[in-house]
Amino acid sequence: MERTLVLLKPDALQRDLVGEIISRLERKGLKIVGLKMMQLSEELLNEHYSHLVGRPFFPEVKSFMQQTPVIALCLEGTECVDTVRLLCGITKAREAAPGTIRGEFAMSVQANLIHCSDSLETAKAEVPRFFQPEELFSYDDILERYIYNTSERE
Ligand code: PPS
Repeated sequence: MERTLVLLKPDALQRDLVGEIISRLERKGLKIVGLKMMQLSEELLNEHYSHLVGRPFFPEVKSFMQQTPVIALCLEGTECVDTVRLLCGITKAREAAPGTIRGEFAMSVQANLIHCSDSLETAKAEVPRFFQPEELFSYDDILERYIYNTSERE
């Protein structure tokens, strides 16, 4: 099954939305296979946002992401990269669709509560960037047969 990276940004912590966001991801049927709080280093942020080097907002994104620790999650599920993106809504939160996490709770492009991998290829780079192999877990989810049909579980 696919795995994807989620970061709950400093605005999610400051606004006491960590539980709400994780609860939405869980209730959808996504499986948490990694979860931790971490203070992001300059080095990690330079790597994570390397595609934004040269954009005028690059320094502000980095300092924003260091304002508090973040919560990193690795989620697992069938085609979960796209599913999580749909749950989050578009980057510009004030235009994100109602019902999405950003659409319900945020107004900003930067303070948009949550980062998620934007493609399977990106997820394959981002998950090991934030989680060591021993920080990721495989375990039986006893409800899985009620979340997917047989062919969807493979
Ligand atoms: S872009 O503009 O297409 O490259 O945007 P995207 O790849 O979706 O995400 C850009 C990340 O930078 C954060 N950020 C901003 N983006 C655009 N414009 C401004 N002014 C800006 N300020 C901050 C935005 O929240 C995205 O962060 P992540 O962590 O990827 O969600």
